[in-house]
Parts: sequence; structure tokens; C-alpha cells
Amino acid sequence: MHDKWHTAYLDLFSAAGRAKISTGTGFQNFDSSPMLALNTAKPFDTYVFMDSDSALTSALRERVNRHALRERVSVLDGNFNNTSDIDRVIAIVKAAASRSSQSPLVFTLLDPFDLSLNFEGIRRIAENLRSDFLILLALEMDAQRNLDYYEPDESEKIEQLLGDPEWRRIWQLEPVRKPTDFIRFIVREFQGKMSALGYITSDPPPMVPIQNSIDRNIYHLAFFSRNPRGLEFWKKIQGSSNRQRSLF
Ligand SMILES: C[S@@+](CC[C@H](N)C(=O)[O-])C[C@H]1O[C@@H](n2cnc3c(N)ncnc32)[C@H](O)[C@@H]1O
Repeated sequence: MHDKWHTAYLDLFSAAGRAKISTGTGFQNFDSSPMLALNTAKPFDTYVFMDSDSALTSALRERVNRHALRERVSVLDGNFNNTSDIDRVIAIVKAAASRSSQSPLVFTLLDPFDLSLNFEGIRRIAENLRSDFLILLALEMDAQRNLDYYEPDESEKIEQLLGDPEWRRIWQLEPVRKPTDFIRFIVREFQGKMSALGYITSDPPPMVPIQNSIDRNIYHLAFFSRNPRGLEFWKKIQGSSNRQRSLF
């Protein structure tokens, strides 16, 4: 695979590379997504990390500069919801792949705190790069909890997530509109958008719910690939987890 493809890992809500996590009896520091990706057994050829918080990107830059693979890494101060920042990311990957005379093969992780995720960024990456996506969808933490806030015409968050200014009209046509129905609605509409970009969707959707310590669903991890083999890997990974539940 590494002969034909120039592999790239995009972590566009990267944070600082280390995170303080509660262990139940206290807090401990762990490597987080950027450093975990740098330390995989088969590293990627190119890494792009981006975060809108410059204190976090500074800390990440320091960590990356101490890493053996630092030459492969770009750490950007940027905002996923700015198309010009997404275009910078795409340009870095294309330039690196072109230097190696290979085609880019990309894995994109999107790990926002909430549903503040502009679909335009996903669309731009999908249309310019051959990329799989792993996306945190804060369905319970945000959509379910804040339906009363999103239903009136005040917030643009769901419009941006779904890339659809008409979403309220479609939602109003739903026969039942309770908060859990809102989760189903977002999943269906989001899958529809990914499907329009050529990604494989399914019923049940390619998503797993993640629970907190009292077994409540808090968010979903969604995986999208255009290649059935990508979905096979996704299913294998799910088989190795024992904290799974049905989606709704
Ligand atoms: C949940 S954390 C990411 C955690 C990271 N994946 C890890 O393993 O530690 C979300 C990050 O997104 C950043 N962020 C929030 N909005 C952003 C945006 N629009 N564009 C880029 N980064 C953003 C925050 O500063 C925060 O560091």
C-alpha cells in the first residue's frame, strides 16, 4: 500500500497531544489523538494537526519537535469552519504527495467538543482528497440536550452541520419530534449528505455510541469510507470493544 499511496493523517481538532483524564481516583496525563497517531506501528507519511486554540497548538508543536517523525508534521493554527484553513490543509497533503510522486490516501479525524462542525469543510476534503472520516457527533451531549434552542430560528449550528439552510422545514415534517427523534433526524440527514459525496451509508448507520461512566450515551463516533474495505476494518474494531450499545 505504501508504494502507491502517500498516506496522510489529518487531525483538525487536534488539541495539544496530551490530555488530563480522570481515572476515578484522580487525574492522569495520557497521549491524545495526535501523539497516538504519530506513535502507530505503521506511521503515516504526512500528518496535519490543526486547532483554533493557539496555546494548544504551541504545546503540540513542542511535543512534535521532540518526535522522530517531526519532518512529516505540520501543526496549523486554524479553524475547521474557515474554508481557507481547510484549503491550506488540502494543499499541504497534495504537495507532500506530489513530492513523493504518489497519490494521497487520507484518514481525517474530526473531534469537536460539540456539533459546531461545518459540513463545508468535510465536503472540501472529500472532493479534493481520497479520505476516510472518523467524526465525533455530539448527538446526546448537544443535539438531544439543546433541541429547544435549535428548533427556533436562532442558531446556525445545525444548518452548518448538515450544510442545509432548509433543515427546520424538513424537521417540521417529522411525525414525532422528541429529542431522541432529533438524533435520528440528524443521523439520517448527515448520512444523506455523506452519501451524496460517495460515502457508504447503512442501516444501522456506521456509528457507535460512546458511554460515560454511568453507561449513558454521550456521543457517537461515525466512520465514513467510500471503500467497502474501510467499513470492514471499522466493523472489526467494533468487535474488539465491549462497551457498545445499539445506536438509539
Ligand atoms: C475534544 S477536543 C480534541 C481532543 C483531541 N482529539 C484529543 O485527543 O485530545 C476539541 C478541540 O477542538 C478545538 N476546536 C474547537 N473549535 C474548533 C474549530 N472550529 N476548528 C479547530 N479547532 C477547534 C478546541 O480548541 C479543542 O482543542
